[in-house]
Amino acid sequence: MVNHREERYRPQFHFTPSEKWMNDPNGMVYYEGEYHLFYQHHPDGTTWGTMHWGHAISKDLVNWEHQPIALAPDEYGTIFSGSAVVDWNDTSGFFGGEPGLVAIFTHADHDYDVNRPRQRQSLAYSSDKGRTWTKYEGNPVLASETVIDFRDPKVFWHEPSGRWVMILAAGDRVQMYTSPDLKAWRFASEFGAGDGSHDGVWECPDLIELPVEGRKGERKWVMIVSIGDNHACPEGSRAQYFVGEFDGETFRNDNAPETVLWLDHGRDNYAGVTWSDAEGSGQGRLFIGWMSNWKYANLTPTASWRGAMTLPRELFLKRGGEGVRLNQRPVGRLRELRGESLEWPELELVPGRNVLDGIHGDTYEIECELELGEAAEVGFKLRVSDEEETIVGYDAEARLLFIDRTKSGEAAFHEAFACRHGVPLLPENGRIKLHLFVDRSSVEVFANDGSAVLTDQIFPDPRSTGIALYALGGSAKSKSLSLHVLNSMYSA
Ligand code: FRU
Repeated sequence: MVNHREERYRPQFHFTPSEKWMNDPNGMVYYEGEYHLFYQHHPDGTTWGTMHWGHAISKDLVNWEHQPIALAPDEYGTIFSGSAVVDWNDTSGFFGGEPGLVAIFTHADHDYDVNRPRQRQSLAYSSDKGRTWTKYEGNPVLASETVIDFRDPKVFWHEPSGRWVMILAAGDRVQMYTSPDLKAWRFASEFGAGDGSHDGVWECPDLIELPVEGRKGERKWVMIVSIGDNHACPEGSRAQYFVGEFDGETFRNDNAPETVLWLDHGRDNYAGVTWSDAEGSGQGRLFIGWMSNWKYANLTPTASWRGAMTLPRELFLKRGGEGVRLNQRPVGRLRELRGESLEWPELELVPGRNVLDGIHGDTYEIECELELGEAAEVGFKLRVSDEEETIVGYDAEARLLFIDRTKSGEAAFHEAFACRHGVPLLPENGRIKLHLFVDRSSVEVFANDGSAVLTDQIFPDPRSTGIALYALGGSAKSKSLSLHVLNSMYSA
């Protein structure tokens, strides 16, 4: 048997399939004390192929137990992305008056047209806490006469109107449908013709209501929409979001239509959606994304498996100068993985000197507050060796937080992988805060309490374990700094 833990690049505290291919997270739902995570899975290969729903269960979002495949292809096609809900009042009639779980997913019918499979929405249900699933005999429940890319239903109960709402991707728009019973769906509205980015096909939408932190009574609706790869865009596939109002039928965008808001400024956070029926520890919503990018997802240099999820995060809203914006923080329970912790007092950062000389690691978390001082650039070099480094830096003049993975390790598998990319970030009182997570093949950056986030895969040599805290062009200060070694999560 392979010891998966020791495989080259195998993440230690990010969810991966025990073997073979994984893409989008699907059907996330919290029920009876368990978090369910399903995922797009090709059980017979390490590249995208015949799609199934893989499955894992966790009590804490950190340690996962692999489950048998939940949904396999049938006469209506392969199983594309979708969601799951708790049908508390048995509106579907599947559960004899009891609550149960219903999955709503896309059937992709490749027999219909191999290159442009017909995409229709279907149901499956489970009365045993997600252990086994029965496909609904009335499948499919929703088709389109006109739209070919018609997929990835995300369903939620809309309390004020007392019915289910489905948001799904339709070409480069989203459509909303409503239903009393999850079986009969009525068209309600379409959104997106003139709004946001249309660099690629729209996929995996989500629609959630969130309080605005620190603003009593203020709530907003957030629509998350992933947009597929476009050969002309170096960024590849990525996720945007809209902030606005939703009345049970129609979404109204608060921002100018041309405003584009990115969920993550790294390259590897795609197709992410939120958990049904689970609140975050604050009032946020729990989210996980697929930590890859369609530009090179099939080419990343892992062996027995391919694909990882981002850390589970809590999404929350904050009102700033430009309006209400989505923020993210890693879920608090990740602290359970902390092993040894190191802490430093205030440190002077002088160009040419590394205060972290001699510290090594490949699975850790760093929390740090940096005072920019006279420095032109400050930041961390991670997974360092003579040949390799991944830089998480802040360009003080450009006010840009960036990741540079041009020398991060194996990068030649696709021309777009070796890159430097960033996000504008304003210092607060001359300081920036960084919260970093480094795993065997990824780095995640939550800056200024989660107002800017970057998620990137990297493929460094296992021996590249050096860490540097650097300043360039003048000295800076580290006001506070701690490093926590992270233990492997349990995944059986
Ligand atoms: C997004 C996506 C979805 C689709 C699934 C197929 O990454 O393209 O739109 O349902 O992957 O695996």
